[in-house]
Amino acid sequence: MRPDTVLWRSAEGVAYTAPDPALNPLVPGFVDIIDQTLLPGEFKRILLSDPQTVYEAIKRLAVRGAPAIGCAAALGLAACAQRFSVPGREEFLACLYQTAAYLESSRPTAVNLSWALRRCCAKTSECAGGGSELLGVLLNEALAILAEDIAMCDAIGRNGLTLLKDGMGVLTHCNAGALATGGCGTALAPVYAAQKAGLRLHVYSDETRPLLQGARLTAWELSQSGVDVTTICDSMAAQVMREGRVDIVIVGADRVAANGDAANKIGTYQLAIAAKYHRIPFYIAIPFSTIDRSIPDGSAIPIEQRDESEITTFNGRRISPQNIKVYNPAFDVTPASLITGYITEKGVVSAI
Ligand code: MRU
Repeated sequence: MRPDTVLWRSAEGVAYTAPDPALNPLVPGFVDIIDQTLLPGEFKRILLSDPQTVYEAIKRLAVRGAPAIGCAAALGLAACAQRFSVPGREEFLACLYQTAAYLESSRPTAVNLSWALRRCCAKTSECAGGGSELLGVLLNEALAILAEDIAMCDAIGRNGLTLLKDGMGVLTHCNAGALATGGCGTALAPVYAAQKAGLRLHVYSDETRPLLQGARLTAWELSQSGVDVTTICDSMAAQVMREGRVDIVIVGADRVAANGDAANKIGTYQLAIAAKYHRIPFYIAIPFSTIDRSIPDGSAIPIEQRDESEITTFNGRRISPQNIKVYNPAFDVTPASLITGYITEKGVVSAI
């Protein structure tokens, strides 16, 4: 099951996940996402077409996961641009860059966001035409990013499958599945490939405090697909490893530095340390669009700091005393020395 986390919705209501000559770029469409803040209780799709709602959807994690953010931002930019009311090419491009910069500022850590927006802007500015030509190039590029993402997930799945055997226990953290990409996921892609190949895996899904992407999203999408999944608290991971239940750890990443250090959801680093101690292989599943070679090592990766209310409240209820200090980094960096390998669309490699 692939829930179409991000797609393009035409004004007539037709869904697109790849460039299509039938699309008229002069008729404004929408980026269509699942509102993941409501899952698993409610499955609701929302249509976005203006800069503020696209920005807010990314900021409040209605769409989240590095590749999905990149796809949503690219399609969101195209939807916004279709509604610009500017007279000429230069004004259009100025407006495009300004909107892209605004969307890029919604979340700092996932490099796919700036990568996708910059790619759309660069491709559009190469077009010498005006009006419909610019809009056509922009929409095609955004849809190409989505189509590539879908294919990239399938390739990661095929490559990661080579690491899996029937009966294995797989531990994952956060959600790097279909809900985090345009396709079937990064870390979960090999799990889906294994399921298709008839392997029976046992997946342990860390709950992933504070926003519970593991407990809410990974558990939801795996169980919807009939994969055997067990939710554990983040603090249980080392014990579950010691009990011999975990043969491999596979997680995604939001940005990988040139030396292989990988930023991923807070809690990933301690998993890598525990995996090393228990001699369990620890893999990062990523598309090449998540590698940022402009950053030499993990210390330069920008780490998003999120609102303290994510920690001080639970189920809408305050759980902390008033006036306490809170520290809420959304990501941590796992050093390359703790990473066994990288599962990419081009193969499994021990260094990037
Ligand atoms: O804050 P989130 O939910 O966007 O964090 C997502 C993650 O940390 C994922 O593991 C990462 O983006 C890889 S998604 C394929």
